[in-house]
Amino acid sequence: MILFEGVSKKYPIDNVALENISFKIGNGEFVFLTGNSGAGKTTILRLLIKDILPTGGSIFLDDWEINRLPSRQLPYLRRKVSLVFQDFKLLTDRTVAENIAVTLEIAGKSDKEAWEKILNVLKIVKLENKGNYFPGQLSLGEQQRVAIGRAIVGDAKILLADEPTGNLDPKTSWEILKIISDINKMGTTVVMATHNVDIVNSLKKRVIMLKDGKIVKDEKKSRY
Ligand SMILES: Nc1ncnc2c1ncn2[C@@H]1O[C@H](COP(=O)(O)OP(=O)(O)OP(=O)(O)O)[C@@H](O)[C@H]1O
Ligand SMILES: [Mg+2]
Repeated sequence: MILFEGVSKKYPIDNVALENISFKIGNGEFVFLTGNSGAGKTTILRLLIKDILPTGGSIFLDDWEINRLPSRQLPYLRRKVSLVFQDFKLLTDRTVAENIAVTLEIAGKSDKEAWEKILNVLKIVKLENKGNYFPGQLSLGEQQRVAIGRAIVGDAKILLADEPTGNLDPKTSWEILKIISDINKMGTTVVMATHNVDIVNSLKKRVIMLKDGKIVKDEKKSRY
């Protein structure tokens, strides 16, 4: 469960990104975060991985209050909540499989267990034939799938995706959405920031829409 209670975020200098935001997202939900550029979507996602701290209010993840979590607990939070960045952030000198493995090395899994997980994730993101490729040898859509694979390999309970279809053509965007939907169907909570009107309107999921740092809509089975 994700709970935002009266959360505000002001960046220096006096740049208000979020103003008194409250919402609750249950386990296994699929939620789109929409709104114009600068509305505050990425700020919400960064708050959820404690990449930044709120300037007001509280953020809970189950019974953890994220903004009070001691820094030694941060690795546990990042294992539970995984953010796929818009620009992928793949390691260019590592193969697809090695990029996905990065998460597991941090978690200290034994090699055999790690390898089984990686193979399973490569299947989920439909890259089972490209495990030995380097990111430079992949299309943008494939690179996005590697980033998603890396995010889920550690069994994250919550997958956050920031504009995962932002740089992709419509067909590739739908392939990515199918993979994210499948991951949600396996039980992972998904929060996806997007400008993609077609995708939001077709999926009829919950939509939280932001405008100038405030929630202007929060509806189930909604549209853009
Ligand atoms: N590091 C930062 N320093 C100062 N202001 C910032 C910073 N990051 C974001 N902001 C401001 O906070 C507001 C919200 O930004 P945010 O990145 O959350 O928007 P967004 O909804 O993700 O937009 P986009 O659709 O363009 O990605 C904007 O006004 C932005 O200028
Ligand atoms: Mg953004």
